[in-house]
Amino acid sequence: MIYLDNAATTIGKPEQVINAVMKAMTTMGNAARGTYSGAMLAAETIYDARVKIADMFGCKNAERVVFTSNITEALNTAINGTIKSGDHVITTDLEHNSVLRPLYALAHGSGGRDHVSLSFLKADRSGNVDYGDLPGLLTDRTRAIVCTHASNLTGNMIDIERAGRFARENGLLFIVDSAQTAGTFPINMEAMNIDILCFTGHKGLMGPQGTGGLCIGSGIEIEPLKSGGTGVHSYDRYQPDEYPARLEAGTLNSHGIAGLSAAVDFIRETGIDTIREKEDKLMRRFFAEVSGIPGVKVYGDYDAPRRAPITLINIGDCGSGIVADILSESYGIAVRPGAHCAPRMHEALGTKEQGAVRFSFSWFNTNEEIDIAAEAVKEIAGQIV
Ligand code: ALA
Repeated sequence: MIYLDNAATTIGKPEQVINAVMKAMTTMGNAARGTYSGAMLAAETIYDARVKIADMFGCKNAERVVFTSNITEALNTAINGTIKSGDHVITTDLEHNSVLRPLYALAHGSGGRDHVSLSFLKADRSGNVDYGDLPGLLTDRTRAIVCTHASNLTGNMIDIERAGRFARENGLLFIVDSAQTAGTFPINMEAMNIDILCFTGHKGLMGPQGTGGLCIGSGIEIEPLKSGGTGVHSYDRYQPDEYPARLEAGTLNSHGIAGLSAAVDFIRETGIDTIREKEDKLMRRFFAEVSGIPGVKVYGDYDAPRRAPITLINIGDCGSGIVADILSESYGIAVRPGAHCAPRMHEALGTKEQGAVRFSFSWFNTNEEIDIAAEAVKEIAGQIV
């Protein structure tokens, strides 16, 4: 199989990640639930992972790195734990449902909240937004900007330095979804004015599924989404106030976190710039090869100097699911078709009915795989257009 669905999850994982998970599964107890060696090993491994994640994302305090089961849980925690009745939130057309659905739910009164309202920074047909629109979206009730760092559909990026500056200048909370950029693009919460950075472990970070979390800036208070056992303050009726226990009820995925920790080591050793430059070259090579094929439409802005390693296409009017099936069955190439959980972006691109075929690249892909995939697109286009 040629695996080109890395924006969904990376399948190529560094050997050291696999080894770390295997070792954890045979040695680790439950962190903060005992002082025997297995429990201590889990606690130390988790703490070590917090320190590495804090260092990677410029989060000042490792205790404010909170682990969740995925980035959807992290975003739900960040959004539901900070937005209150009467608040107005600015977001963008690029968002995934992991941002949109919690926001829509609040706007419809979930959690007993009244009068939460939303405004969207609109995307044009190439997936870009106009930052000049931001001041016009501001109201005296605006509390937060919640946005993705890169579209999971086109790969185009939000300029989070600019959005963060705007948030800071206007006293807004800035919550960022780094699902498509963590591990590939440098992110620094301090420099970018990010208050809450949500991340996933299993995509660009090349860790196991079931890992993710939030990095929380100084002074940011988040109400817990869930409550339960933490191994500390057992006689208190309520969830402890201090991070990370405040947001980490129940047993953590210490096996996965051990793998994530090893993945962060791999990224540091290899170099985030080296990884990004390779993935960028693969993406631009594929773009160059498919963009000239008659009948193939490529979406997104390739003049952008920085973009996530994703190429989105359609072939004529053919349903994206049919193209993906042919790629899989006839060529052994794995891609994602359909609606990609990003409804507003599809509306902006005009692909609501057809969906689109997404090729997404990772450190473990090769030029040869890119050329085979591009040749397959050419052959399919030749047959169906
Ligand atoms: N959010 C993931 C994707 O874009 C699953 O495929």
